[in-house]
Amino acid sequence: MNKLEVSGTVNLSELPFGQDRSRAWRELRDAGEAVTAGEEIVLTSADAVEFAAKRPDIFSSAKAFDRLGSPVPMIPIAIDPPDHTRYRRMLDPFFSPKKMAEREPELRRQAGELIDAIVAKGVCDVLPDLATPFPSQVFLTLFGLPMEDRDRLVQWKDSILEFTDPGSSEATPEVLAHAMELFAYLTEHIAARRTDPSGTDMLSQLMQDTDEGAMDDNEILGLCFMFVLAGLDTVTSAVGFSLAKLAGDAELRGRIASDYSLIPAFIEDILRVDGPVPFAPRVTTQEVEVAGRVIPKDTTVMLSYGSANRDPRRYDDADTVHVDGKAVHFAFGRGPHRCLGSHLARLELRLILEEWHTRIPDYSHVDGKEPQMPWPTGTMGLRSAPLNITPA
Ligand code: HEM
Repeated sequence: MNKLEVSGTVNLSELPFGQDRSRAWRELRDAGEAVTAGEEIVLTSADAVEFAAKRPDIFSSAKAFDRLGSPVPMIPIAIDPPDHTRYRRMLDPFFSPKKMAEREPELRRQAGELIDAIVAKGVCDVLPDLATPFPSQVFLTLFGLPMEDRDRLVQWKDSILEFTDPGSSEATPEVLAHAMELFAYLTEHIAARRTDPSGTDMLSQLMQDTDEGAMDDNEILGLCFMFVLAGLDTVTSAVGFSLAKLAGDAELRGRIASDYSLIPAFIEDILRVDGPVPFAPRVTTQEVEVAGRVIPKDTTVMLSYGSANRDPRRYDDADTVHVDGKAVHFAFGRGPHRCLGSHLARLELRLILEEWHTRIPDYSHVDGKEPQMPWPTGTMGLRSAPLNITPA
């Protein structure tokens, strides 16, 4: 067989992700390690994805996000090294495990409060009741913004993300209006911090000088916008997948509820099996051969973190969630662009799972099985997960 024939063609939106994610990932991998999807090439194997993620000189992020037409710099996701390295040196300390741990008591309190309200109501849909409001509250808390803005923030974010979804065409006037409202909101708060920079919140701290210099207002606006785009829906999806998985698996649920030390391993493996970010885009800066396939310069290449995460050549029993080890996964990406908020995401997930099981050790799907996931979408996730709950 000719090397170029190794890879096939797929239509991503027709893969059966809605009905059976394991089958859909298998079908994608079976098409080849570097497959054609419309105008794009999708890398599907763990080796190919790892190679591309670690070569930003060949697989550039700079042009990859152009289609979103963001009026502010998408920092740091759409910046290539060496500038990207400066931003990460500046930003990483704010999102370190130690910094995140300082926020734990307050965030734990807020998670507990949301779950108390679910217990009081007696019925629950995980997505609107917990998985959606919590990450927005976390953003407002970290940046020292008013909590009463939570629902507005969720609405702005939903509207903007709808536009970034694959398959959406032009931004509607409503989407543009929401994007402008979010910018105006963030700009106003950034200006207020410039007037009084004494605060201890992250927004005030980001304005202060670091060894790498200080960020200007436009850069800070870009970062806040990134946080809203990258740090809310991803956590929402991960919370949804986590509780939906446990609701459908009595044995695993029982183990987690009686031994919280299993929670970190569960989080890592549910992120591996059902990671919220299925693909990350890059654009090639030169011709390159990957997995026997020659990819021309200026091609959009999708790194399938989701497919790499279930590659049976890398992971044993790849479609099953394990809690007895810690597999190094692709859910937070690889290479220089690996997720800035991974420690925050892990903290949010752990707090939710601990506070949930303290109050609600037993629960199940209202319809006896996990609801279907919409597809195609940008972030993978359930939109609804109604549960029967039996509080402690
Ligand atoms: C479970 C939750 C999350 C998942 C699965 C996730 C996943 C990812 C992935 C796969 C990437 C790499 C994208 C690429 O290769 O182009 C990424 C980057 C990023 N994530 Fe997350 N993320 C999560 C939560 C968060 C949170 C809470 C924040 C908030 C700070 C955040 C902020 C970012 C940023 C700023 C980047 C860009 C990093 C860079 O380009 O250097 N993410 N994330």
